[in-house]
Amino acid sequence: MSETKKATTGGPGKSARRLVVFGVTGQLGRELVDRLDESEWPIAEVVGVASPQSTGETFDFRGEPQDVLGEWPILKGRDLVFICTRGVEALEVVRECLRAEVPCLDLTGALSAQAEVPLPALLGPAGGEDDVIASAPLIAMPSATTLAWASLIEAIGEASEIVRVVGTVMSSAATLGRRGLVALSEESIALFNQSESPEPGPAGQGVAFDVVPSGGIDPERVRLELNRLFGEALRIDIAGVQVPTFVGEGTSLAIELGSPLERRVLESRIEAWDGLTLVADGVGSRGLMAVDGAAAEPIGPTLRDAAGTEEVLVGRIEPDLSLAVGHGWRIWLASDPIQLVVDHALRVAGRRLGQA
Ligand SMILES: NC(=O)c1ccc[n+]([C@@H]2O[C@H](COP(=O)([O-])OP(=O)(O)OC[C@H]3O[C@@H](n4cnc5c(N)ncnc54)[C@H](OP(=O)(O)O)[C@@H]3O)[C@@H](O)[C@H]2O)c1
Repeated sequence: MSETKKATTGGPGKSARRLVVFGVTGQLGRELVDRLDESEWPIAEVVGVASPQSTGETFDFRGEPQDVLGEWPILKGRDLVFICTRGVEALEVVRECLRAEVPCLDLTGALSAQAEVPLPALLGPAGGEDDVIASAPLIAMPSATTLAWASLIEAIGEASEIVRVVGTVMSSAATLGRRGLVALSEESIALFNQSESPEPGPAGQGVAFDVVPSGGIDPERVRLELNRLFGEALRIDIAGVQVPTFVGEGTSLAIELGSPLERRVLESRIEAWDGLTLVADGVGSRGLMAVDGAAAEPIGPTLRDAAGTEEVLVGRIEPDLSLAVGHGWRIWLASDPIQLVVDHALRVAGRRLGQA
């Protein structure tokens, strides 16, 4: 590995941190750097790495343009590495971090199945998991779907035992990375112009104006992560569907409870939970109005309502009529997966680096 040009920002104090972001040109990497930029953490440098094709590109950090490295930098001596590449590239970065003895936070899911790698999902007040976070050489980030479901399961599970969770996750083009967004955009333009369809993107088939069953997220990863967090006794089933929107993730979730729970208790648990926002029935939070005054008003939370927020929006709480009263609820979740995962990763990193 050779180091090309080092991207150093001004003002390193004694404890100023030296960070590395792999995948700095991707959706997640960009958002992570923006959030680090806005933070008040003392940061001596952020080294941004991407594929060799991105050599020569730059990114901004604290008012200065920084080179994107197409070759890997020397990792020894850095304080923390964030991996925001695809899973296939992640394992090699992980091995290099272990060799260089630099702690590493993997946002790709490549380490989710490894029981010895901590998977912090529900960060309580400082303490608790902090010892593990402070000392583990590798830390895995749960998927955005896991983070959203875990908050809801934990919030409700404090009031009644959850015996079964079944959900269908509707993923946007952003789930498949920047190339997924480009594919949806180019295919949509071609359809409008009635011109020839471009080559399929990372979904492996056309996605514009269509719904792709089994597309989007990796349901097996989510199931595995939730079983790691809540134990094998929790029965979970997940289906993924790709929908032709650019951002966001929606989930229609059915929860079966061991003992009945009233709606008002359910709602109050959700309202009280940090990271969940209950969106009551009514006009969508974007203030949408029905075109036909006599028709019902559009009701959120939609995926666009959730875009740009790190909260999981919860709405459409309806009884599951196939179960005894209070034993089953259908719940709709809308979230922005990139915001959710980056926000969580920064909270974990903050604890690791003593910036919480
Ligand atoms: N999208 C989401 O909603 C979401 C949410 C949570 C987690 N994730 C996970 O986060 C990861 C990134 O997702 P994304 O949406 O940001 O993907 P993306 O937009 O496709 O970005 C991928 C990044 O990886 C870089 N890369 C590719 N090969 C590399 C190599 N050999 N060495 C270093 N960097 C390399 C790319 O660089 P180039 O620009 O040079 O190709 C780009 O910066 C994935 O593992 C995904 O599963 C995604």
